[in-house]
Amino acid sequence: MILPNSQKNGNATLDKLKTTFTGLEFVNPFILASAPPTENKRKILKAFEAGWGGVVTKTIGLHPVENVAGPKTIYQRTSEQKPYVSRNKRPETMSHSSWNWELISDQVLDQWLPDLKEIKETYPDRMLIASIMAGAGSEEEMKNWQKLATSCVDVGCDALELNLSCPHMDRKDMGANVANDEDIIRQILAAVLAVVDVPVWVKLTPSTSTLTDAAHAAYDAGAAAISLCNTFPSLPLMDPETLKFEVEVDGLVTSGGQGGLAILNQALQRVSDISRACPDKEISGIGGIKGFREAFNFIVHGAGNLQICTAAMEEKGSGGVGVKLIQELKEDLADYLDRHGHESIEAFRGIARERIVQPSQIRRKSDDYNGGYAKSA
Ligand SMILES: Cc1cc2nc3c(=O)[nH]c(=O)nc-3n(C[C@H](O)[C@H](O)[C@H](O)COP(=O)(O)O)c2cc1C
Repeated sequence: MILPNSQKNGNATLDKLKTTFTGLEFVNPFILASAPPTENKRKILKAFEAGWGGVVTKTIGLHPVENVAGPKTIYQRTSEQKPYVSRNKRPETMSHSSWNWELISDQVLDQWLPDLKEIKETYPDRMLIASIMAGAGSEEEMKNWQKLATSCVDVGCDALELNLSCPHMDRKDMGANVANDEDIIRQILAAVLAVVDVPVWVKLTPSTSTLTDAAHAAYDAGAAAISLCNTFPSLPLMDPETLKFEVEVDGLVTSGGQGGLAILNQALQRVSDISRACPDKEISGIGGIKGFREAFNFIVHGAGNLQICTAAMEEKGSGGVGVKLIQELKEDLADYLDRHGHESIEAFRGIARERIVQPSQIRRKSDDYNGGYAKSA
């Protein structure tokens, strides 16, 4: 049997997977994103056993949470033969995307805390990041952020990720609804950073025209990293025969979030926008990663680690935590590093930045083109 280089070289190769991100040492750069794969202690322990370098917990909050009276997530598939997108089972289909309208964790903080402590004690070398979310616009909500932050850090969490990106909130002072407001971003960071001294990551929504302003505001206010992307706001499809949406409750739907392969290119562009605007800052890449090639693409645009959700949830027989996926990601990255003689992902991180330019900077067939403007004489 021919072994890939990564398996022949053993520990030396595994060392190459080590990544420092926001001052934290990761055994590998692959972490499970905040979502069902990290929704409880059992799944997180299983994920660490499988080899994930870190996890961001399902978002923990203090306000009442009640999910819809029906399925919270669907997986959409497409096929080469008749390439329509649908959750309906058909032979020879491949994954297209996930769509969900799941709210944040319905497990209360007091239940999370002993679990987080046990997880960290069981796997001290893995990074445990608590995703938290509260409201905005009042002293009380800033106190809520502080309570969530100090409670999670006190039980051993290595970092926090502030959820400013949940795309399906009714409350106007929460999630993606506040990601356009730079003052609110600054206030929340000031409140949290006043009470903890771990790295604080900020997860932004891709669906704002002022993304780089929001990122600047967050970095200026002390964010150690931006995590991007949360799911893209979107609607499920309607079946032409039944006139039912593929997910609905009593015939009704509301905006949910799309994840998985279908958002990869858009997510890369958002990461690139921030990474080029703030090249000396840290960014955690998320959106459509299914294997090494997608991860590689986030890294060349500047991401220093990778978060994964849909691909892990979709893996059959893994309990939704991507047991095979993490093995493949580690092996394929190690093999790539070995074959190219790289010591770590730093060798190619950000190499795409300077090759993303304005449209007029792309060579045309003649020299006459002036970006759509008439050439001055
Ligand atoms: C069912 C589901 C629940 C999610 N819940 C959260 C959440 O609680 N907090 C959060 O920050 N992101 C949440 N996300 C977003 C994911 O963390 C991730 O940003 C998104 O799915 C894109 O990554 P992917 O393409 O690998 O799925 C959720 C995603 C899904 C599919």
